[in-house]
Amino acid sequence: MSLPGFMIAPLDAAYPCAAFDCGNEEMNAYARNRLLVEHTHRVAGACVLLCPPDRTVHGFFTLSPTETQTTRAIAAGVIESPPYPNVGGALLGRLAVSGALQGRGFGKLLVTHAIKTCIENPMRPRCIVVDAKDDALCTWYVANWAFMRLSPDRRRMVLRLR
Ligand SMILES: CC(C)(COP(=O)(O)OP(=O)(O)OC[C@H]1O[C@@H](n2cnc3c(N)ncnc32)[C@H](O)[C@@H]1OP(=O)(O)O)[C@@H](O)C(=O)NCCC(=O)NCCS
Repeated sequence: MSLPGFMIAPLDAAYPCAAFDCGNEEMNAYARNRLLVEHTHRVAGACVLLCPPDRTVHGFFTLSPTETQTTRAIAAGVIESPPYPNVGGALLGRLAVSGALQGRGFGKLLVTHAIKTCIENPMRPRCIVVDAKDDALCTWYVANWAFMRLSPDRRRMVLRLR
């Protein structure tokens, strides 16, 4: 999946985030104040949506290592019978698209790129985990990529990587 004229690239200090606006103030503050800091200090790796030759950030996602309890992962069908108490995975921690571009497929493009990035990672995470913001977004993750809820009372979702 690709959208003509746009590209996804690892974050770089040359890509300005200061005016990023996705309509969610917490996410805007994260994009403007924390995204580059966390990327630079390896708290979380960020990839950004760009429309070259413009360098402005139009969207982004972050990935960082995480672990899921093996019992929960088995219940969700992520694994069968691993030898360790926890299963290693990647956390899709932040995801946002600028308001002007929402509803045009860029969110799907970013999540699909994040999944591909994890599949190709030499550390071979077993699963990708996301904390969906609300129930509607849970449905979005299920419908587009077959993420599964780890338990009915939480919005933590997981997708097995193969
Ligand atoms: C969530 C977000 C990244 C989706 O990006 P997008 O580019 O608008 O998404 P796409 O165009 O790829 O997909 C649109 C679909 O997502 C759904 N969608 C978008 N935002 C949604 C929301 N907040 N709740 C429920 N569904 C949402 C739309 O209904 C649409 O559904 P469809 O595919 O059945 O038509 C974007 O709305 C955003 O940045 N929101 C603010 C930040 C945020 O809430 N991040 C948390 C992510 S867990």
